[in-house]
Amino acid sequence: MSLKLRKLSHGLGAEICDINIAAPMSESAFGEIHRAFLDNGVLLFRNQNITREQHIEFSRRFGELDDHAAFPSDRHPQYPQLMLVTNEPQPDGTPSVSRYTGRRWHTDMSHTLEPSLGSLLRCWKIPGVGGDTMFANMTLAYEALSPGMQKLISKLHAIHFSGGRKLDNTIADQAHAAEQKRLSPPLAHPVVRVHPETGRKAIYLGEKVKRFDGMSEAESQPLIEYLNNHATKPEFVYRHQWHENDILLWDNRCTMHIALADFDQNERRHMERTTVMGTPSGYVVAIA
Ligand code: OGA
Ligand code: MN
Repeated sequence: MSLKLRKLSHGLGAEICDINIAAPMSESAFGEIHRAFLDNGVLLFRNQNITREQHIEFSRRFGELDDHAAFPSDRHPQYPQLMLVTNEPQPDGTPSVSRYTGRRWHTDMSHTLEPSLGSLLRCWKIPGVGGDTMFANMTLAYEALSPGMQKLISKLHAIHFSGGRKLDNTIADQAHAAEQKRLSPPLAHPVVRVHPETGRKAIYLGEKVKRFDGMSEAESQPLIEYLNNHATKPEFVYRHQWHENDILLWDNRCTMHIALADFDQNERRHMERTTVMGTPSGYVVAIA
């Protein structure tokens, strides 16, 4: 098989055209997809009118899947390997707890000791306009820093807090935040991570990070803000406009993403994600 690739932006991303990811696929055909994933950071598969089982099965080729025990209330009730990102109200009519998922720059599962390798998000329902997701290439962002800054940040570890998500003051939201906090103690990861497969260095940060280990928030904030702003400059970013049945795969080790609030919140947006587990990283931080 020879893949038909179309670049999505200068910074990152490629579409794999004319493919059905639910069809039988040889190891060598999958190898080409895997290579494209490492080369482009984000892959788009359009028109994947497939079942949940097929979404899960294709995702498994990239590695072991998370059963989302760290997000019990965000799981699909029948499929623990699927995490919901939806604003469809719950069966009892209360708002979905995942309606604000991903509204800050982040990389998936960075609040765990096995942050995710990659995620595959499938679009089931999208508003008439907007509901976009943006991605940033953290390898390019790292490589664009001066040698002095690269050296400075190479020694730092950043503390990743879970539940950086936007909240309303509802009882369900507050309970959800408390549950997240209990399940996820603060952890630190290196600010510069070496990609285990490509060997390239990338900035590993985002807006769930409030400070560096061993430093105060006030001391850390200016540099965190500088690096997050730097990494999300337009030249490092791809903005995805969803179609139903798009599946986007991204590499959580060298990209960040953000769900935009650029749509009418009365319209429905429903996505489902599988999460491929990554290799161990970081350590638990004892906070006084
Ligand atoms: C995610 C996520 C972004 C979106 O599923 O990990 O951050 O646009 N989603 O829904
Ligand atoms: Mn995410």
